[in-house]
Amino acid sequence: MIDTISKQELNKAIQRRRTFAIISHPDAGKTTITEQMLLFGGVIRSAGTVKGKKSGQFATSDWMEIEKKRGISVTSSVMQFDYAGKRVNILDTPGHEDFSEDTYRTLMAVDAAVMVIDTAKGIEAQTKKLFQVVKKRGIPIFTFMNKLDRDGREPLDLIAELEDLLHIEGYAMDWPIGMGRGLQGLYDRQNKRIELYRSEAKGEQFIPLNDEGTIDASNPLTEDSVYQDALSDIDLLNEAGNKFDMAKVARGDQTPVFFGSALTNFGVKTFLDSFLSMAPAPSAHETVDGATVQPTADEFSGFVFKIQANMNPNHRDRIAFVRVTSGAFEKGMDVTLARTGKTIRLNNATEFMSDEREQVKQAVAGDIVGLYDTGNFTIGDSIYTGKQKVQFPKLPQFTPELFVRVTPKNVMKQKSFHKGMQQLVQEGAIQLYKTYNTDEYILGAVGQLQFEVFQFRMLHEYHSEVEMTPIGARTARWVDPEQLDPSMASSRNLLVKDITGQPLFLFENRFAENWFHDKYPDVQLTGKFETD
Ligand code: G4P
Repeated sequence: MIDTISKQELNKAIQRRRTFAIISHPDAGKTTITEQMLLFGGVIRSAGTVKGKKSGQFATSDWMEIEKKRGISVTSSVMQFDYAGKRVNILDTPGHEDFSEDTYRTLMAVDAAVMVIDTAKGIEAQTKKLFQVVKKRGIPIFTFMNKLDRDGREPLDLIAELEDLLHIEGYAMDWPIGMGRGLQGLYDRQNKRIELYRSEAKGEQFIPLNDEGTIDASNPLTEDSVYQDALSDIDLLNEAGNKFDMAKVARGDQTPVFFGSALTNFGVKTFLDSFLSMAPAPSAHETVDGATVQPTADEFSGFVFKIQANMNPNHRDRIAFVRVTSGAFEKGMDVTLARTGKTIRLNNATEFMSDEREQVKQAVAGDIVGLYDTGNFTIGDSIYTGKQKVQFPKLPQFTPELFVRVTPKNVMKQKSFHKGMQQLVQEGAIQLYKTYNTDEYILGAVGQLQFEVFQFRMLHEYHSEVEMTPIGARTARWVDPEQLDPSMASSRNLLVKDITGQPLFLFENRFAENWFHDKYPDVQLTGKFETD
């Protein structure tokens, strides 16, 4: 399929791809650090562009009112730039826990993750959840301890917390010299230098370390107690800390840890340079048949990890986000959709350069392309060229915890109700169930906000006003159809079916579930998502 570039060029292009996501708890500084990276990549020219978008200053690039009102990033987007010889793809992930479903799927499409932690807060709930999803994938995880310009926790405690809470070894690549008002700089173990904070006031930015790992005694910094403290921490790390192990990093068993302040752009470049040199180029992917698809294979392949309708209200479009897993994507190419065996011509594609969407000329393994979709794709679909069928495993489904019954307010508008419902469910915005015998619609979500977004989008994009009656928090447990007897259902364990027709019970609480287990000890119940 490679017409316009040679095999050698393709290999080179793939080797320089670095595709990753940033995970963090809201407010840890993900947007700020992303923005600094975009500045280094020359995508934006001034700080505040991305933040402005988030706070609603740049209303035109905000595609949803809710996003502006709530000040949270609802959608995952993709940003691409060239930096230090690498083509970087950052897949943004919504930090708000209500959108973790979207985030989880995005994490299936990256080769590495950056975990941003607020040094004052340490590891927070959402970081822990997202970390577990990344850890399961066995991909490298790099840590940026942010907000060093403020007083935070002891750096040694932060490293210990990685092991205690996340069970991952931390290896400090650099180390803070002071914090908050007393921040003097970073002791950079990797580059064997000290990086000064507010260097413009002092002249030079970097002071090389001598063979003893210290700086010349004539430097006034040596008289500062925070420098002495940092040296004794470094001694401790050298003697008793983890040893750097690239093989462990590659498996996600050790995380290289960097310190800095995204807001004052301190330590970010050191982090980015080091991270990009260690992060892997696109890796091979396994198919359901046990075959391995190498990124440099001649044939193109990819999978849809996200579908989003109406990203730009001016063009009523729907975009399927495809992670290219092998070969090169070219506009107008014919691909086979593994699920149906149908051939689809990919005429209309877009790549993501910051928030400007540009027509894609060529994308290779590691890149993300957005395909304008007229309803061909569903999440998890595999597409490929060539004779050999390529089918990647299904993406994990997140088990919803909140449920509502949903009906159209105006029964005369059934058509737009069904259309909106079908599209939003296909997009993965929300999960749809039907009551087992009566086929009433029930929606499932991870967080309340997902329902609000659904209701809002139904009204504004499909002109369908919907009525939602809460059923409350429930635990979803799938049941083997062979073992199912509909009389097992009650109001405490509603019997419904998912969109594939599989039956499941929605248990009111753990008590109801235990009661069920006692009554029907032989009936096997399973949660769907792998972290359940
Ligand atoms: P998020 O995307 O992870 O949610 O975090 P975001 O970057 O929006 O940062 C959250 C808040 O933390 C912002 O302040 C931001 O300016 C601040 N922040 C980020 N990095 C640093 C840092 O290194 N040092 C300090 N001191 N603050 C940092 P805000 O007041 O919520 O927003 P804004 O009014 O400043 O835009």
